[in-house]
Amino acid sequence: MTPGVRPLIAGNWKMHGLAADGLALARAVASGAAGLKAEVLLCPPATLIAPLAQALAGALALGGQDCHEAAKGAHTGDIAAAMLKDAGATYVILGHSERRMAYRETSHRVRAKAEAALAAGLIPVVCVGEPEDDRLLGRAEEVVAEQMTESLPEGFGTAGGVVAYEPVWAIGTGKIPTLSEIEEIHASIRELLHEYMDEEHANLVRIVYGGSCNATNAKSIFALPNVDGGLVGGASLQLDSIKEIIASI
Ligand code: PGA
Repeated sequence: MTPGVRPLIAGNWKMHGLAADGLALARAVASGAAGLKAEVLLCPPATLIAPLAQALAGALALGGQDCHEAAKGAHTGDIAAAMLKDAGATYVILGHSERRMAYRETSHRVRAKAEAALAAGLIPVVCVGEPEDDRLLGRAEEVVAEQMTESLPEGFGTAGGVVAYEPVWAIGTGKIPTLSEIEEIHASIRELLHEYMDEEHANLVRIVYGGSCNATNAKSIFALPNVDGGLVGGASLQLDSIKEIIASI
């Protein structure tokens, strides 16, 4: 954990959740969330942001899982940052590897989306992480550095932007890097942040870990230097797991 930084536990529900179950889960996560050490953020499907915002009345932060880089226009099926904000979101996940792969989102596009998020007053959670081949070739740090350089917009630090390190091969697989591998990449991300912004902001950017983070491994991951919380997929859909993960910070 980074001294002086409030950690963040973000649940990425991906394409899971209808109104009844989503509301019940969010309410259960919110009960007991007051006074927690970590800020808790839920990123449900976009259809649930408004009802959750109404039901939770600020007890937890809410975020989108993607936004378009344009403020509005003829983009069938897409969602603008201002729409997420209007529905009650304060954050938006951008550049998740599932989107980088399925929709061929480049880092340049991720940066454009992050700029749109900032313009709409949303805090971007920018995901970076290497595919397995690059890890095996010893190129993890290099790939992450390239994604960082190309994805982060101006003003990211001052707006409270979050970097999520999510090795692609660890997402939904039950595999995680060793603790020292996580520590190394997070340290390299912190170092890069110092190249892009002033010292104060570089020290305050939260760098969260994602990829098969669960109730068993969370405590040891969160104890590492420069790990300021987690971006949790599968385990955030189970009440017991997400509560335990939140409590392990
Ligand atoms: P996982 O997903 O926790 O299910 O591995 C994390 C993510 O994709 O953000």
